Amino acid sequence: SQTSDWAGRRVVITAGPTREAIDPVRYLTNHSSGRMGYALAQAAARRGAEVVLISGPVSLPTPAGVRRVDVTSAEEMWAAARTEAAGADLFVGAAAVADYRVDSVAEQKQKKQGRDGQWQLTLVENPDIIQGVAAMDQRPARVVGFAAETRDVETYARDKLARKKLDWIVANDVSRSDIGFNSTDNEVMVFGRDNQRYDMGRQPKSVLADALLDLFARAD
Ligand code: PMT
Repeated sequence: SQTSDWAGRRVVITAGPTREAIDPVRYLTNHSSGRMGYALAQAAARRGAEVVLISGPVSLPTPAGVRRVDVTSAEEMWAAARTEAAGADLFVGAAAVADYRVDSVAEQKQKKQGRDGQWQLTLVENPDIIQGVAAMDQRPARVVGFAAETRDVETYARDKLARKKLDWIVANDVSRSDIGFNSTDNEVMVFGRDNQRYDMGRQPKSVLADALLDLFARAD
């Protein structure tokens, strides 16, 4: 894979967490470091693709040759994705998008006083970015999701593959601390629309990224 096999192709990747504000000083988020998505962006760029990396707040350097679009919330990520994904050859959703946001963000820092030891937040659903991308008029030629699961990995991953109308889904067990969120390595099962299954053993995310691009490059 040290070739330019992705030259002339446009690849759009989401990476990192989203951050959903509660008030000016507080937010909801998750453990995504951005490493998986950044590794994919770096590999695709090295192999000649024109790469757009839509990134939530992470502390990673932008890979060489990659155009990075910084976003904070899921709604911002969706706005960037719908613009960048139109007509792309490949869209990969490696971001850990918050499924919910706070229904109304407080304008002022919320105070402890008068809360009676409790604070109830109401959450509303965020747009599903990858499902939206897969339903676009100018749908990317291939739409690939990730599935972060803590149990019944295959069942839940295949359900997301079908429900979100994806071409491939890359499933990782995020209950493990040696792979998945915020680790150097990952170990995944990849499921395809036509019932394919590939098991990719534990390896650095940088190496896995090349193996995944080999798979997504195939004509079928
Ligand atoms: O960033 P790292 O520290 O390297 O960790 C990598 C990772 C664990 C974050 C990554 O490998 C991973 O699993 N990413 C997907 C995390 C996730 O949100 O999974 P999910 O099963 O909740 O979502 C399924 C798919 O739908 C994903 O492609 C996700 O990007 C997408 N999604 C989810 C919710 C939403 N509102 N919009 C979406 O597009």
